[in-house]
Amino acid sequence: MYHRSIHERDQFWTEIAGELYFENLDSSASTHNFDPSRGPVHVKWFEGARTNMAYNCLEKQIENGMGDKRALIFEANDEINCTEFTFRELLVEVETFAKFLIAHGVQKGDRVVMYLPMIPALPIAMLACSRIGAVHSVVFAGYSAKSLAQRVHDCKAKMVITASASRRAEKIIPLKKIVDEAMEICKSDGFCVNKVVVKHNADIEIEGVPHVEDVPFHSDRDLWWNESVAEFRTDGKPAPIEFLDSCDTAFILYTSGSTGKPKGVVHSVGGYQTYVYATSKFVFDLHAGEDVLFCTADLGWITGHSYGLYGPLLNGCATVLFEGVPTYPDAGVWWQTVDKYDVTVFYTSPTALRTLQGYGEDPVKRSSRASLRILGTVGEPISSETWLWYHSVVGDDKLPICDTWWQTETGGHIITPLPGATPLKASSATFPFFGIVPVLLDPKDGTEIQGEGEGCLCIKEPWPGMFLDVHGAHERYENSYFKVYEGGYYFSGDGARRDSDGYLFITGRLDDVMNVSGHRIGTAEVESALVQHSSCIEAAVVSIAHEVKGESIVAYVILDPSRSIEKRSSLEIHQRELITNVRMEIGPFAAPERVVIVKDLPKTRSGKIMRRILKKIAAGDVDDFGDVSALADPGVVDEIIKAERHAR
Ligand code: PRX
Repeated sequence: MYHRSIHERDQFWTEIAGELYFENLDSSASTHNFDPSRGPVHVKWFEGARTNMAYNCLEKQIENGMGDKRALIFEANDEINCTEFTFRELLVEVETFAKFLIAHGVQKGDRVVMYLPMIPALPIAMLACSRIGAVHSVVFAGYSAKSLAQRVHDCKAKMVITASASRRAEKIIPLKKIVDEAMEICKSDGFCVNKVVVKHNADIEIEGVPHVEDVPFHSDRDLWWNESVAEFRTDGKPAPIEFLDSCDTAFILYTSGSTGKPKGVVHSVGGYQTYVYATSKFVFDLHAGEDVLFCTADLGWITGHSYGLYGPLLNGCATVLFEGVPTYPDAGVWWQTVDKYDVTVFYTSPTALRTLQGYGEDPVKRSSRASLRILGTVGEPISSETWLWYHSVVGDDKLPICDTWWQTETGGHIITPLPGATPLKASSATFPFFGIVPVLLDPKDGTEIQGEGEGCLCIKEPWPGMFLDVHGAHERYENSYFKVYEGGYYFSGDGARRDSDGYLFITGRLDDVMNVSGHRIGTAEVESALVQHSSCIEAAVVSIAHEVKGESIVAYVILDPSRSIEKRSSLEIHQRELITNVRMEIGPFAAPERVVIVKDLPKTRSGKIMRRILKKIAAGDVDDFGDVSALADPGVVDEIIKAERHAR
């Protein structure tokens, strides 16, 4: 199949798309160009064919006899709120919400931002947007008001959907308050959102009625979901549905790059859907009406979009939506959830596994996990120690592990084993998925490395899950991904090693993108958050290896000398404030582990910061800095080492 997927590419993918509902599917209607020297880069799959992703997730499955099978399983933070929806029940919810959206002026192509916790409202709202051709942009509900505002403004959202609050273990986070702050920021930047829809959640209940007085509410703009949506459930009218061109936008999802503000990654309706359907089907070996996929990623990330929602539903399978945290009420909760719902495929990140590894085998062994067939991992390189723990403790030495390498931009799995078919090696993502031609390029001259070796991981041929554009910034799309090396390659930003058997091992990012607990964060974003502090003149951040998080952030900052900052107590206050600044500007997950106050940064004569040196200092590896002849002032290195010792 792989051979055919490469040699008869368009025909191969058209046949796969044909397993879903598409009108006018034609294998000669896909056109692509990855090489900017031949004209504008474009990726167009099945242009002219018409389809609808929500239709394929729901009606198509009901037609296939899955109507009474489980589609969405909600494992709430507290037992009492757990619910399940069959395909038919989920369709009713989606149709109802689609009618509500239309009644409030949301039309095909309009952007709708979701800032919601992992509750059924989120997949329902996503599917309802897909149904009417509106473009959803889900913002992970751990982002700050400022980050939310930036994304809402960038995509010019017509509507924002949120919840009164979210629950994580014992903690309640006031989401609506954060949305209000974000709306204020948007307003001060001259942009207003028409409507904010608020779902009751995590409210204190008085005699069974949600107590909402503490939730800020602006009656001219805000709507309560529960009250406003109810009338559309019983109006007896048919729910609208919009069949879109395959190349129309399905959604925008923001992700971090090595420079500048976050990029709005644009995915297509037809290509994305086909690729996510195929990767879920083959990598997770999904069978309609039988399999239950538990993907632990938040729906606010691409993993949640592709394998927590669309992938399983397009295959007629159930998906588990897990609201809480993996250690509440105890570190066995995921495995109990597996047993409770007969989960067959479990998909998580190395960070989560490392956290659970710290609790020992007991919480795992208290479950049977008898239903499990396949284990998956994604998001960061997985060490052989964690891989073996996953395989032997969770998988009882018998379950295959699919270490899947991919990115927000790629829509779905790119390098991954096929369970049962690919002999595994610990820590290796193994081989390319169907239709994928990966190459390793020599970072110095961009030539292809043949056979064994290490280089920059790039992809040569287009595939259906490939994103269409960076929202509102086509030049950035071409420059960041296709012009890094000449010759028509998609540049991933990751490094990889190929062994003598051809197995690929991902080595991590080669650019200024960090990966903290599987969260992708640009150095530039954190630096810009630090310099927002009135005392901070300049900042440089690097990441270092961290036992649980994979990587953690260390910041080097220069403070304004005109401020009295000599006293140690004052320095500590500044360090704390700087960390708070990052939490407020981006979100708590991006907070530096350490802030080191320095007088100068290691810069070249042209003013470029030599991060390589800071990375070594941060890691305590100060014996050999290699070639430092480019440094404008080599003396700064010793100064920074001293400051670093002081900071620890
Ligand atoms: O560095 C790679 C890492 O995560 C990055 C993509 O992040 P994001 O767009 O947020 O998507 C994450 C989920 C698909 C990649 O550039 N990454 C992802 N999967 C792996 C990985 N690193 C090593 N092994 C993986 N399996």
